[in-house]
Amino acid sequence: MKIVLGPSSKELGEKIADILKAEKLPVAFKNFPDGESYVRIEGSTQGEEAIIVQTTSPPQDQRLIQLALMADAAKRTGAKNVKAVVPYLAYTRQDKVFLAGEALSGEAVANMLKAAGVDSLLTFNVHEGALLKRFPFPAKTLSAIPVLAEYFKQRGLERAFSLAPDDGALYMAREAEQVLKGGYGFLEKHRDLYTGHVSIQKKPLEVKGKTVVIFDDIISSGGTIIRAARILKKLEAARIFASCVHPLLIGDAEKHILSAGVEEIVGTDGVPSAVSKVSLAPIIAKELLG
Ligand code: R5P
Repeated sequence: MKIVLGPSSKELGEKIADILKAEKLPVAFKNFPDGESYVRIEGSTQGEEAIIVQTTSPPQDQRLIQLALMADAAKRTGAKNVKAVVPYLAYTRQDKVFLAGEALSGEAVANMLKAAGVDSLLTFNVHEGALLKRFPFPAKTLSAIPVLAEYFKQRGLERAFSLAPDDGALYMAREAEQVLKGGYGFLEKHRDLYTGHVSIQKKPLEVKGKTVVIFDDIISSGGTIIRAARILKKLEAARIFASCVHPLLIGDAEKHILSAGVEEIVGTDGVPSAVSKVSLAPIIAKELLG
């Protein structure tokens, strides 16, 4: 097994390779003046299982193309198979056709990766697990929620209440509760399919005077967490923390979330960021060992 250090996940790839004591293959990359991507795997994958570690957080289109080009390069230099480790798999929020005329983006991306040479894929907390069944290769999603909850436990927040900002994230609150053991619940979120506007309803929750950690798969604009934090304030929660697997944190999202009264944001290194305090490397290494 050789670990190909994709440009977007070089540090994570190095950590995985160190745990596995596997050979690391660096990748030279650049953009041409017209914006096209170039990659070159530095080393041989001849007869090997090539594990390409490459997250596809923004700029997601460029990173997806880099991933496809690395898969092609690995196959061309004789890899016997190619596994893509893509902690954040872009386009998977479009996991069905919501309005007539839309693409099923998550499936289209997988088909593109298959054509390029990807034989299997590993990701984390994909928005809708059922989507992976439509992929043209074996694909698996793991959960980073237990290790995120463990971070809060080590930080002295055992017994914190685990909150999901919507029912789709309820499984994450449940997983976190297994570690924090302070109860769990969810809010009702509605997203307008045409405008994208998100609203979250206030509802009774036993959080008065409690520490609450909000768990979600993605923090992008921060709107979901900010709305959830405002409701928690109204419900008189004592302290509010936010945690996610994929901290995209677009623009000033981090600043706005902290201004809304959230004490700390904690994410994973599946998307490198200022809040990526929890590493996915041990989970990925264990999975690769089988
Ligand atoms: C959507 O349902 C996801 O689970 C996240 O809640 C959402 O992507 C977060 O996006 P934002 O930070 O822009 O509200």
